[in-house]
Amino acid sequence: MSATRLPLIAGNWKMNLNHLEATAFTQKLAWSLRDAKYDPAEVEVAIFPPFTDLRSVQVITEAEKLSLKTGAQDVSEHESGAYTGDISAKFLTKLGCSYAIVGHSERREGHHETDEIVGRKAAAAAAAGLVPVLCIGETAEDLKQHGAAAVPVSQLENALAEIPAEAELVVAYEPVWAIGSGSAATPEQAQEVCKALREKLTELRGADFAEATRILYGGSVKAENIAGFMAEPDIDGALVGGASLKVDEFTNIVKF
Ligand code: PGA
Repeated sequence: MSATRLPLIAGNWKMNLNHLEATAFTQKLAWSLRDAKYDPAEVEVAIFPPFTDLRSVQVITEAEKLSLKTGAQDVSEHESGAYTGDISAKFLTKLGCSYAIVGHSERREGHHETDEIVGRKAAAAAAAGLVPVLCIGETAEDLKQHGAAAVPVSQLENALAEIPAEAELVVAYEPVWAIGSGSAATPEQAQEVCKALREKLTELRGADFAEATRILYGGSVKAENIAGFMAEPDIDGALVGGASLKVDEFTNIVKF
């Protein structure tokens, strides 16, 4: 964590909570954060519900003036047209979203998304005024064959080739072997990769851009391990899956 970048704790709900459950959950989370004296000037909190929940979550966050940002878990690379089942970034902006996750490993694996597709999704998000949260990370096999940093650095480079140079983004380093496994990377391992990612950003986008860009760690983040990650100089927050569905646990992560 650096003194200049605002930490971001992002909750990726994945395919959990219907819109009624989402409304109740968001309200509880807001109360819990308030009780914990959460200060949005110190840490930014964003939640990423399923598409069908976004309108309900928007209604409650606006009505109650909650200091919670929202984002989508995916976005189309296209603006509009004959793309059955896809969601345009413009629709998300209209729903008050600030972010869109692109390239989560579950989409790379299950929906055959390449770095180029992911990069184009990020570009579409940025064009509509969203900040893309670009997910990258190596599998256990990649780790064995190439070490920790090589694959995520090349995923970053390939995606950046599709994204306009001035577009703000958040990078989320999520080793695939750590996601949902209960065994996170160590803070030292994650720092090593996040440092290499920042060096790649410096090379491709310049020092100011790299200094301003937030790089998150994701993969089995919990209240008990978040402080270790946040103590590292190149880790600016976390993308949290399972633990973001538990109000107390997520609050404790936000209060790292
Ligand atoms: P996890 O998921 O925290 O449940 O490991 C992280 C993610 O997939 O973003």
